[in-house]
Amino acid sequence: MSVIPESAPVAAAFRPFPAGFLWGTATSAYQIEGAAAEDGRTPSVWDTFCRTPGAVHAGDTGDVAADHYHRLREDVELMAGLGVNAYRFSVSWSRVQPTGRGPALERGLDFYRALVDELLGHGIEPALTLYHWDLPQELEDAGGWPARETAERFADYAALVAGALGDRVGVWTTLNEPWCSAFLGYGSGVHAPGRTDPVAALRAAHHLNLGHGLATSALRSLLPDTARLGVCLNLHVVRPASDSAADHDAARRIDALGSRIFTGPMLDGAYPEDLLADTAAVTDWGFVADGDAATIHQPLDVLGLNYYTPTVVSAPTGAAEPARADGHGASDHSPWPGAEDVTFHQPPGERTAMGWAIDPSGLYDMLTRLSREHPELPLLVTENGMACDDTVDPAGAVRDPQRVAYVRDHLDAVHRAVTDGADVRGYFLWSLMDNFEWAYGYDRRFGIVHVDFATQRRVLKDSARWYATVARANGLPAPSQEPSDG
Ligand code: FCB
Repeated sequence: MSVIPESAPVAAAFRPFPAGFLWGTATSAYQIEGAAAEDGRTPSVWDTFCRTPGAVHAGDTGDVAADHYHRLREDVELMAGLGVNAYRFSVSWSRVQPTGRGPALERGLDFYRALVDELLGHGIEPALTLYHWDLPQELEDAGGWPARETAERFADYAALVAGALGDRVGVWTTLNEPWCSAFLGYGSGVHAPGRTDPVAALRAAHHLNLGHGLATSALRSLLPDTARLGVCLNLHVVRPASDSAADHDAARRIDALGSRIFTGPMLDGAYPEDLLADTAAVTDWGFVADGDAATIHQPLDVLGLNYYTPTVVSAPTGAAEPARADGHGASDHSPWPGAEDVTFHQPPGERTAMGWAIDPSGLYDMLTRLSREHPELPLLVTENGMACDDTVDPAGAVRDPQRVAYVRDHLDAVHRAVTDGADVRGYFLWSLMDNFEWAYGYDRRFGIVHVDFATQRRVLKDSARWYATVARANGLPAPSQEPSDG
């Protein structure tokens, strides 16, 4: 049976990617590791949040997750079997520095040493993310990201990880999607730690920026010159619902809060003036100290873009409760401080099991925009993928033609961006395997490997086999070259 849907658009020919292109999969610590209380690991904000009644679907937790902590060799073998040449993972802060302060716990670091050795032994390049949302609970209790001290602690932690793995890891990213940490964690409260305070959310955004700057400068002084340093951002591809000036202005406001709040200070050395004006009624940004702009503005070697779906907005309607189909989860509290009145629309067309509209042109648009605005900065797609309602059929197969089509069409968008001059160096499919999808628990499957969470059995989905052919060929096949059986 073909793994390619009948409706596949007919592409002309084999589309090669640049030599040395990284073909990877991505995961994060809390979503796959489990072993939550083993070898000295202490709770992170997500362990705590999962125990808050009603916070996570079905009361699911990351206590066991995909049990990757005990199966790292098997999981690296799986990757090696796919022929991928890169793997993006994150380090659990409270596993390697349980109180968020002071010396490292060597047992915690040993797990990542073993993982990295295993990857390198299979010719897979490790791409390490220091922070994928799992703040040690002790640091949250001391104020969390709205407190300036957390940025300083983050730089100390970065230095500990660099000391342990600096000689073996080539790609380092500081934060994953700081937008989610700040605005879902402290604004709408749908993510840990579940606070709902617009001022705290903006303070958190600034201290995440500061933490990125401090950590990058610490890493720069500790890592070999060959290390590539960057950050992973879920930049929002914002589209006005109509061509009216008012809808364009709504799009500008969400672009500022969703993207330029990070790219401004990190890449251009300042917060955008329009962002400061738009949020003036919320805060005077007095938490930004002299010198912070320079600290945050570190030279980077790579920018990671996480992309799933575009965002469509229109001007305030005056309704008491504007529609908020922003794809970021339901809450009575907006994750958009100062822009609570903007209306978010669900674009028409096909959607994923997350309810997210499928639109690869958004990936093309953001890659080419970044390459126009920062032509000197190499890009990586550090996340892209699709949740589907996957099941193992009686023959033991997992047929996920929709995911194959999603990944193929997004890779085609990457290929077009490269053809048009964007310097994209790699693509990391989210995710290697089904895992704990945050507030959705185990109810959403993003993996190209199916996980039966009762037995921890792994089964390759059709998309895994398809992705393997692409990675091995370093390019997208013409339809006639697609595999004919799953
Ligand atoms: C991103 C997260 C990742 C995963 C995907 C679906 O926002 O970085 O952990 O949850 O969405």
